[in-house]
Amino acid sequence: MIRFFEKEDKSEIMKLAADFLGEKYDSEEFGIMFDEIVDGSPDERGISVLHAGEFLGYCCAHIQDEEVIVHQLYIKPQFQKLKVAPQVFDFIEAEFPDKKYRAIVPQDNEIANKVFAKRGYEIIAL
Ligand SMILES: CC(C)(COP(=O)(O)OP(=O)(O)OC[C@H]1O[C@@H](n2cnc3c(N)ncnc32)[C@H](O)[C@@H]1OP(=O)(O)O)[C@@H](O)C(=O)NCCC(=O)NCCS
Repeated sequence: MIRFFEKEDKSEIMKLAADFLGEKYDSEEFGIMFDEIVDGSPDERGISVLHAGEFLGYCCAHIQDEEVIVHQLYIKPQFQKLKVAPQVFDFIEAEFPDKKYRAIVPQDNEIANKVFAKRGYEIIAL
């Protein structure tokens, strides 16, 4: 199941964010962003990816008038290579149609650069 963040997702999403962001993870900062999203931030959205009650991953994106900028996308290692990311892209395109899709991706992350480029995203190199 792919859906927008709900309040009760917080602890699971924060665990995923800590795994994904590593040293860059700041629990206070991420917690504030999560709360702003579920409180109805006008320009930031969070997406939870679940299957059978387990959180497989998450995505965060800035939503603007003409573009969507994905800045975090993480699928747990044991669920990677199972075409979960394309389902997240489908969800984004269904919820935010007719926008330009962009992604902020570290230059050295070859897999992610390929995944986003294949889907037609414009890459903003980190
Ligand atoms: C990048 C990522 C989001 C892709 O999600 P996914 O659900 O695994 O994507 P897919 O199953 O559609 O795989 C897409 C391609 O990436 C490859 N891939 C995905 N994970 C991989 C891994 N751990 N090792 C090697 N290749 C991998 C797949 O083999 C596939 O290649 P193909 O198009 O040649 O078949 C996911 O691997 C991930 O969360 N990575 C860690 C976090 C990250 O780098 N996020 C992006 C930065 S914003």
